[in-house]
Amino acid sequence: MRESSQCCCDESLEEKLKHVERIIDDFIKEDANLIQILHTVQNVHGAIPLEIQQMISQKTGIPLSEISGVISFYSFFSTKLKGKHIIKVCMGTACYVRGGKKIVDRLQEMLNVEIGDTTEDGLFTLEVVRCMGACGLAPAISIDNKVFKQVNPDKLHTLLSKYYPKEGQQ
Ligand code: FES
Repeated sequence: MRESSQCCCDESLEEKLKHVERIIDDFIKEDANLIQILHTVQNVHGAIPLEIQQMISQKTGIPLSEISGVISFYSFFSTKLKGKHIIKVCMGTACYVRGGKKIVDRLQEMLNVEIGDTTEDGLFTLEVVRCMGACGLAPAISIDNKVFKQVNPDKLHTLLSKYYPKEGQQ
């Protein structure tokens, strides 16, 4: 994998945009296809929002409508930036009947986000999934791929508190 395609989470937004611009230029030189460009840009930037789609369109000459169409066709592309921590709430049958919906509702209220959105401070993204293989100990959620079982909505504050930066940290 080329060096410039690796994710640099510590970059500022401006640095990320410059990084994305260099990636696009490299791919254009190599005559790469749109999917390769989109994959790499998403890997570096975390998502492909409209301003990046416009940048790709300007640099490659591919119409913006075509780029947007490809992004919306493939579910692995996202136009929304993800938060530092990804919370996934299971809404599979076992979890749903044991309170999964209450967990989603509580998290939406606590974080002030809709499903699929990221908190204003960029700390959490809330998503739902269909079964994470812990049906016997439902309801389950995961945070950054760590699975928590038999989750009690009243204990979500305690659970999330571990993910807030400590004082003095970013
Ligand atoms: S339904 Fe939630 S873990 Fe299987």
